[in-house]
Amino acid sequence: MTDRLELAPGAFWYPAAFDARAQADLLADVRAVLAQAPLFTPTMPRTGKSFSVRMSNCGPLGWVSDGSGYRYQSFHPDTRQPWPPLPDRLQAAYARFGAATPAEACLINYYAPDARMSLHQDRDEADLTAPVVSLSLGDTALFRLGGPERGGATQAIRLASGDVFVLSGPSRLAFHGVDRILGGSSRLLQEGGRFNLTLRRVSCTG
Ligand code: SIN
Ligand code: FE2
Repeated sequence: MTDRLELAPGAFWYPAAFDARAQADLLADVRAVLAQAPLFTPTMPRTGKSFSVRMSNCGPLGWVSDGSGYRYQSFHPDTRQPWPPLPDRLQAAYARFGAATPAEACLINYYAPDARMSLHQDRDEADLTAPVVSLSLGDTALFRLGGPERGGATQAIRLASGDVFVLSGPSRLAFHGVDRILGGSSRLLQEGGRFNLTLRRVSCTG
């Protein structure tokens, strides 16, 4: 197993968990998903403002945001087609980094070099016991981790291509976000920028 740093109870950082070959394989999976389910631009429920991050999903469920709110749904908001299946490699990563139940959703976030994501909690899942496992591909992100309360102390780390980050246990509802992308820090994506894949369990089992 690769090195693991515990930044807070249940918040694990695995630097360089995937080598260059594995990153290329993951990227090929992402490209195949996006060919079926193109990136869309989500909007904020109240303000209608566009996110700077563009998104897609694979798996039975996908996370979306628009005037009706944040939610999981089984189809792409623009094409209305079901999300493509979750590739085996991604399902395997979810288990490898701590999940006991299969992922139902993989949110694909694309950050152009000027995109960011403000501090938030991942709390639209019914099952808050399963971890959120996040994989980074492409340019390095300045990632910010807080605690379970808004306004608490935060720490910043650099998530590079091939890194894995896990929010689980007491950190499952930790605030987190991306301050900025370090443009040009990776050559994995020809177009530049960063993909972040977050694997989630949505519904409770049993
Ligand atoms: C997210 O919270 O959905 C994305 C986190 C990241 O881009 O690392
Ligand atoms: Fe998140």
